[in-house]
Amino acid sequence: MEVLSRESQLSITEIREQFPILTSQVYGKPLVYLDNGASSQKPQSVIAALEKYYSSQHSNIHRGVHYLSQHATELYEQTRTATQQFFNAQHAHEIIFTKGTTDSINLVASSFGKRFIRENDEIIISTMEHHSNIVPWQMVCEEKKAKLKVIPITDSGEVDFEAFKQLISDKTKMISICHVSNTLGTVNPIKQIIQEAKKNGIPVLLDGAQAVPHTAVDVQELDVDFYAFSSHKMYGPTGFGVLYGKEKWLDQMPPYQGGGDMIKTVTFEKTTYNDLPHKFEAGTPNIADGIAFNEAISFIQSVGYDFIHKHENELLNYGTQQLKSIEGLRVIGEAKEKAGVISFLVGDIHPYDMGTILDQLGIAVRTGHHCTEPLMNRFNIPGTVRASFAVYNTREEIDKLVEGVLKAKKMLQ
Ligand code: ALA
Repeated sequence: MEVLSRESQLSITEIREQFPILTSQVYGKPLVYLDNGASSQKPQSVIAALEKYYSSQHSNIHRGVHYLSQHATELYEQTRTATQQFFNAQHAHEIIFTKGTTDSINLVASSFGKRFIRENDEIIISTMEHHSNIVPWQMVCEEKKAKLKVIPITDSGEVDFEAFKQLISDKTKMISICHVSNTLGTVNPIKQIIQEAKKNGIPVLLDGAQAVPHTAVDVQELDVDFYAFSSHKMYGPTGFGVLYGKEKWLDQMPPYQGGGDMIKTVTFEKTTYNDLPHKFEAGTPNIADGIAFNEAISFIQSVGYDFIHKHENELLNYGTQQLKSIEGLRVIGEAKEKAGVISFLVGDIHPYDMGTILDQLGIAVRTGHHCTEPLMNRFNIPGTVRASFAVYNTREEIDKLVEGVLKAKKMLQ
């Protein structure tokens, strides 16, 4: 047994056994899956929930008097309550179900933008944002003739807090920043950022896509206004995600999309909108994945964030130390507070070439700009090779990565 979880008493071997895909082979080699920042693998409980739903529970929800519809509605709404409890939201109706983080941020940018952003207003983001936390705000700025302000970052990949404070003005209408950077792994000082924003009466949106797989989030304790994340990076199904929003904002914001489920009454003259959360959930939702997401929450609870955090931190430290012992290897992003992400370059080897050789060895990493082109420009690099960890990864897998990088280096240099 590699490490014991104090809460779950599960070994890493037992955790791995819950993920059928981890016994796969790629090109005849055992799969080493280190692309969890892009999407994590799924435990059997999530897979089984999907199968059970389509085999015996499927019906449309919020619409039927018949048994199947009512039962599916109950299961779907149980996920909302479980999500509310997991993230400690005050109300279940503050949990809006979306397609994922991108959809959640677009919802806020579009709807909050319509209601609250005017000409010459300002929105603050940071240099390390994913495109999904840049482009929706650029679209609002273009439409409203508002301005996008960008917090600079240091060479180690941390926000320049003094520069951030200088960017705040009486025109700032929103601060939208990642909790954890997908490319650098930096854990941002979100408590201080929110504190600074509150002093100035500015709402904050956190892109939590890369944070929720690794760390517990209490939205009331943070006093954050909006928190966006995806199910598929936290062991749940794809195509499903969450927007947490404070009731006081969601109540004032207009619907994002029009259609079924988001209305109270419709006539050709006037439509009245449904209450929260349905006001923001037009059309038949992703019922199956929503129901199965509850199992992903249960999986994380069974392992415990304390254990996840501790284990991934050990992998991060070990991986960083081992990779840095390779001559010519440079880690991009060396913040003091990091999640389990290591972005690196070796000499002048193109990340794509490195990724292709690692793939042939069965090692899955992500290569490229990671949807953070402005961040790549900040470091003046075309992209990186990124290894990102989940709770099922092991030291042995890191050793294989290091061996693979050494092999690729020999072949390519
Ligand atoms: N945003 C995801 C990543 O960082 C897809 O890989």
